[in-house]
Amino acid sequence: PKYAAITAVAGWVPDHKLTNKDLEKLVDTSDEWITTRTGIKERRILKDETKGTSVLAINAVNALLDKANINGEDVDLIICATSTPDMGFISTANLVGEAIGTKAMSFDVSAACSGFIYALEMGSNFIKSGNYKKVVIIGADKMSSVIDYKDRNSCILFGDGAAAVLLEPHNELGVVDALMFSDGSGKELLNVKRGSAFPYSEEQVMGEHHYFHQDGKSVFKHAVTNMSAAAAQIMQQNNLSADDVAYLVPHQANLRIIDATAKRMGVGNDKVCINIEKYGNTTGATIPLCLWDFEKQFKKGDNIILAAFGGGFTWGSVYLKW
Ligand code: ACO
Repeated sequence: PKYAAITAVAGWVPDHKLTNKDLEKLVDTSDEWITTRTGIKERRILKDETKGTSVLAINAVNALLDKANINGEDVDLIICATSTPDMGFISTANLVGEAIGTKAMSFDVSAACSGFIYALEMGSNFIKSGNYKKVVIIGADKMSSVIDYKDRNSCILFGDGAAAVLLEPHNELGVVDALMFSDGSGKELLNVKRGSAFPYSEEQVMGEHHYFHQDGKSVFKHAVTNMSAAAAQIMQQNNLSADDVAYLVPHQANLRIIDATAKRMGVGNDKVCINIEKYGNTTGATIPLCLWDFEKQFKKGDNIILAAFGGGFTWGSVYLKW
């Protein structure tokens, strides 16, 4: 096959809404500050602390299988982009595979907010190999599990959610091109320090080092520069002008980052898919949740540009023919 096409998309978010008004009661902030600085009005939270990202992912994938009218056993690869796996190992994708009843290969991708586009590029190449026919790509994160709800700099930004796409072989439509990048020198500017170099200890927990941390201003600048550069490069190498682009689906971290990226690309506001006001930053899930929310507007053959930036740093852009 020439391409891997997205033949179905589905999302799932928990019912519980954490509004800006709710956050006013937790930290020194205001609805006005959050709305003007980020564009976010509310986010969804998976309240049960014993339930992890896999619950979000399994609900999204079950909805996807229903929509595509296929069984779990028909799936021959699952890739889950997540930064908040249920456990150190095993992978969240493994848990999804068990839940839907497949013994196919399954693994997680760790690339923070770029995880979904990384996983999409990988899934696309598995399809192009000719050996895989039905590939499920998931973006899922339970960010509430790593956020300090005493820190007003970060707790206002994130929400929990998941969405998944089905990739199948196609000769005209699908992932036409993808550009992925990483630069580990951003590691001190955006991270969650949990893992083998940061073992659980009284000092770590008491010092609250196990929470999400970022230098917001610096990340903001890197995000705009790198997302717009990657998107511009993919447009250029595919001879696409801004007029040829039907939609831009950017990672949803901050409305001002989205606006600045679209402006640099020369893409008009009416072509930019935005749902950050409803969900906040759901990390790996933002782009597929946006595809799910906006798919009714997309027409067959539309040129769609995806762009993401996240911790690492990691970033990239995908050119999709819908
Ligand atoms: N309510 C009220 N005031 C606040 C809040 C809040 N929730 N948060 C911060 N402030 C204060 C700050 O303390 C600061 O006060 P000070 O000047 O007295 O220190 C003031 O508001 C202004 O802060 P700025 O840093 O200038 O605010 P900025 O406009 O940069 O917005 C924000 C902050 C929203 C975090 C922004 O920088 C941002 O979105 N950064 C990028 C986020 C991002 O893309 N993250 C990457 C994705 S995450 C991932 O990969 C997993």
